[in-house]
Amino acid sequence: MKHAPTPARPERSAKRRVEGVTEVEQLGERGFFVRDAFAPADLIEAALKHAHTQPLTPAGIQRGAIKSPDVRTDLTAWLDDAPLTPAFEALRQELNHTAYLGLTRFDLQLARYEPGARYVRHRDAFPGSDNRRVTAIVYLNVAWRKEHGGLLRLHVEPPVDVEPVLNRLVVFLSDRVEHEVLPAHAPRLALTAWFYA
Ligand code: OGA
Ligand code: MN
Repeated sequence: MKHAPTPARPERSAKRRVEGVTEVEQLGERGFFVRDAFAPADLIEAALKHAHTQPLTPAGIQRGAIKSPDVRTDLTAWLDDAPLTPAFEALRQELNHTAYLGLTRFDLQLARYEPGARYVRHRDAFPGSDNRRVTAIVYLNVAWRKEHGGLLRLHVEPPVDVEPVLNRLVVFLSDRVEHEVLPAHAPRLALTAWFYA
């Protein structure tokens, strides 16, 4: 009886390869990468429970800024100490080791999109400004299906749509990759970390 070769143990670092290209190479060349199974299942479960206890308010564009319902219609909460905080801290260190980004800290935000909510095309930072360098988003949508919508569209060349499935991580350069959240048709949960240099 023949056995399929044992797959190589996935590396727990951004040196991992998808189709022969490392995550860090993708970040440099296309400005983003996507990784599935970001955190252990028990932490994701804890993050979901925690998310449901957070009081949410209409999103502002910057911390404490004027609310802009023309731009984004999700509800958000800033999280100071969440079940996935250590996982994002590990990601920060990993990106510093592999991509030499010199990321010093991050803010973490929970966002909930109700049916019909969206976030129009934007960037998270502007080139040359001394603020957000890297955006990392983890999705918390159990049993997401296509009809639930809420795709993350990355306006790279050619554009890429990311399905917001449970425990999927997307990382992109905050000042480079324009992106939008297409209208959600079911509640959609995302945890976003913005890393600063
Ligand atoms: C944001 C954002 C994308 C997403 O919060 O700035 O673009 O997929 N979120 O939730
Ligand atoms: Mn954004």
